[in-house]
Amino acid sequence: MDTKNTKGILLAGGAGSRLYPLSKVYSKQLVAVYDKPMIYYPMATLINAGIKEILIIADSNTIPFYQKLFENSTENNLGITIQYAVQEKPNGIAEAFIIGKDFIGKDNVALILGDNIFYGCDEIFRKEIERGYNTIFALYVKDPEQYGVVQFSAQNIANKIIEKPMNFVSNYAVPGFYIYDSSVVEVATKLKPSNRGELEITDINNHYLQQFNLDIILLNKGVTWLDSGTPDSLLAASNFIASIEQRHNIKVGCYEEAAYRMKFIARKQLLDYTNTLPNCAYKDYLLFVSNNMQDNLDF
Ligand code: TTP
Repeated sequence: MDTKNTKGILLAGGAGSRLYPLSKVYSKQLVAVYDKPMIYYPMATLINAGIKEILIIADSNTIPFYQKLFENSTENNLGITIQYAVQEKPNGIAEAFIIGKDFIGKDNVALILGDNIFYGCDEIFRKEIERGYNTIFALYVKDPEQYGVVQFSAQNIANKIIEKPMNFVSNYAVPGFYIYDSSVVEVATKLKPSNRGELEITDINNHYLQQFNLDIILLNKGVTWLDSGTPDSLLAASNFIASIEQRHNIKVGCYEEAAYRMKFIARKQLLDYTNTLPNCAYKDYLLFVSNNMQDNLDF
């Protein structure tokens, strides 16, 4: 696959049943993870991975909330475009590619799940997007059975992904960030719903794996992957973010900063944008970024 433009899909609907009643009125991705809505974190991850064109997929009830949340982030002031598309029911993660067919066109696509938080992965994701192969990631976790899990052959070669295995397969879970070429649309279109009635991302990954057309990159212990879809994992994610932010005086998931770091916007645009925000710690932080990262030098 050539190095092509890569678009981003942020899948932010879902039933959110494990977070009920937090998810009763609106989608869980609007719930706070420490000091900002959950969706900010995957949004910042996409932008930090170098992606400028983003499609948010969610239920029709929640989309107006996201539109309100990101209303200032149009091409003019953050250098990104955000489109929206409806997923009527949570028919499965792989449905994102069917809904996003026109958006993807002939480009590559990176899909991120709206309740996944990545810390320390930006450079790795950027590199893999530039490489442009069908790529998923795997990470050692204590509780792999909640996820798609990588099965290895006796020669230690990944030969299958097993969705939420009942019996132990390995500790390597597949996190919610996936990169494909545009053939994924056709692969998704041909999928049949699984026993739980969903179009499974794991079936897409197994399709490419069988064709020897999928790279699985092991993420090392230096990076952190959290999901925030249960009360306990939500609290753990908030505590994790709070401790990093307080210790280092940074903000994780600040997508406006990501746009600036990626040079999608110049300092003046960041300042113009920041001046539209109410007085708050978030605004102070963006002012701090714009004053201390002049000419995009790190601080
Ligand atoms: P999950 O956490 O697997 O599912 P869920 O959000 O429906 O939650 P629960 O299991 O508690 O009912 O979803 C992972 C992410 O993908 C999450 O950010 C929601 C999103 N998602 C969709 O937007 N549409 C879908 O059809 C599915 C299955 C998930």
